[in-house]
Amino acid sequence: MIKNLVGALLSAALVVVTAGAAQAQSDYPKRNIVMIVPFAAGGPTDVVARIVSEHMSRTLGQTVLIENVAGAGGTTGATRAMRAANDGYTVIMGHMGTHAAAVALYPNLAYKPDVDFEPVGMAAGTPILILAKKDLPAKDLKEFVAYVKANNEKLNMAHAGVGSVSHTTCLLLSSILQVKPIAVPFQGTGPAMNALVGGQVDYMCDQIVNAVPQIQGGTIKAYAIGTPERSPVLPDVPTTTEAGLPQYQASAWNAVFAPKGTPKEIVQKLADALDKALDDPAVRKRLLDLGSDIPGKDRRGPQALGTLVKNEIAKWTPIIKANM
Ligand code: MLT
Repeated sequence: MIKNLVGALLSAALVVVTAGAAQAQSDYPKRNIVMIVPFAAGGPTDVVARIVSEHMSRTLGQTVLIENVAGAGGTTGATRAMRAANDGYTVIMGHMGTHAAAVALYPNLAYKPDVDFEPVGMAAGTPILILAKKDLPAKDLKEFVAYVKANNEKLNMAHAGVGSVSHTTCLLLSSILQVKPIAVPFQGTGPAMNALVGGQVDYMCDQIVNAVPQIQGGTIKAYAIGTPERSPVLPDVPTTTEAGLPQYQASAWNAVFAPKGTPKEIVQKLADALDKALDDPAVRKRLLDLGSDIPGKDRRGPQALGTLVKNEIAKWTPIIKANM
């Protein structure tokens, strides 16, 4: 008798809890959403996050608040996001560094990018540029290569922390050139760019969205872009292939992730809001003017991002292990 009563009470409780969870999902979002940017404000990850989150806020009817959590090449912020409640109220703007290269660069990484997150969707592809301070003597990439080799171990190469995109893609450059510059870490390539413009560091490999204004303004030098085609917003910057360094091919991507276990219905609402942002003409103009590659429909959404993360881990792990 008692057993039946306990059983009935338990199943009633289960019904209440399930109904509550279903209600929470269908009411989502009922309050602000935090989007962690794992680097300092003003860098490429921050810029892409603020552009898309502003439009997502309108679609979701709640503010998507940017929270910059810098450190350890973005893995501090990514770990914070992984440990957040999986209720849809914390997401992260991650990228090729935090959710692919970091696996090979941090043996004790607190998270597995392809296991501990729910992929929401890719936001922007970001070609990599080889950049230098305005008064570096080299006039083109060939002279830059010679200069870096001649001044090996004396030049300051800026990056955003071990495992960041700027760190990984310039380590690739260093391994191709067989040089060991002085690696100067910053909390993001926003502050690093200030140092490059100020001449405090010599060169950097950075995502195009962080460099277009400075290149167009002539406050830094851009020797080449690491993609097969030139960027339409930087028509005078040659590809690495045109400039004589075809083996240097480098581009990154920024994407939104939620903690593992975030309900599928909520992940889909976030993915739909990101999709709408990427279809909005004003958002597209801002991203394209900064040289971003906006993913087509086939490259958007949770499934495509899940596949991208696995492929990028598989791509960068052997490169990093072989060259660093
Ligand atoms: C990086 O990985 O270099 C980051 O994108 C830098 C940043 O966003 O500040």
